[in-house]
Amino acid sequence: MTVHFIGAGPGAADLITLRGRDLIAACPVCLYAGSLVPEALLSHCPEGAKIVNTASMSLDEIMAEIAEADANGQDVARLHSGDLSVWSAMGEQLRRLRALGIAYDVTPGVPSFSAAAAALGAELTLPGVAQSVILTRTSGRASAMPDGETLANFAATGATLAIHLSVHVLERVIEELTPHYGADCPVAVIWRATWPDQRIVRATLETLEEATEGERGRTALILVGHAIGAEEFNESCLYAGDYDRRFRPVGTEPRFPEGE
Ligand SMILES: C[S@@+](CC[C@H](N)C(=O)[O-])C[C@H]1O[C@@H](n2cnc3c(N)ncnc32)[C@H](O)[C@@H]1O
Repeated sequence: MTVHFIGAGPGAADLITLRGRDLIAACPVCLYAGSLVPEALLSHCPEGAKIVNTASMSLDEIMAEIAEADANGQDVARLHSGDLSVWSAMGEQLRRLRALGIAYDVTPGVPSFSAAAAALGAELTLPGVAQSVILTRTSGRASAMPDGETLANFAATGATLAIHLSVHVLERVIEELTPHYGADCPVAVIWRATWPDQRIVRATLETLEEATEGERGRTALILVGHAIGAEEFNESCLYAGDYDRRFRPVGTEPRFPEGE
């Protein structure tokens, strides 16, 4: 018996990996985090599967479901939104499974930050503008931020920020970032990227509050940085005609002669 943790993707039901879909189809039990996992994915469950929405359940109750499946020798598909490597609460489940000696594996999913970037049609790492993306959040009722992981500290790097779980404190986000990025820094808020009701607001740090007035909903990502919508950036050397590289040797004495 194995518990298969599966990244369900950001919302659109066809943004799950083939491996994730096939695992759902092979498991007689499916536990899904119903607050953000699209119900359409449940259509991949086999006939007669036990399907449980864990949105309102405690960790103990979820583990009890898994223990029951284990006792019955039934594999479990465990679905969480986006990718499991960030804010999925997978870590605590894996720790319990290790303690119980229950096998598990993990199948990645499309994270919401890349779905949001795709919705903008934006590359978050533009040469000469930003070469790092910081995935972060602000502190919430359930999770305090560790010392040092402040927006101001991250902003000091000038990297592109993908701020999760924070659209309800937009005012504070703007206040903390403006001294570092400047009031004219581009920012975009993407609500429910890839869902049918996806919404996008593009603004600057200065105009964002007004631009988002009346917008509702907490499932949103705030992307901030000079790479958002920039037109002034360098082309990468990789595709430059005179750039000698392993896959495209150039000149009479290439660094990587063919066959090497
Ligand atoms: C509990 S976290 C889950 C993150 C998820 N594991 C991931 O890979 O993106 C939920 C937060 O992720 C962001 N989020 C998740 N899905 C989103 C989507 N489709 N569009 C915009 N933001 C999303 C929002 O900031 C939301 O508050």
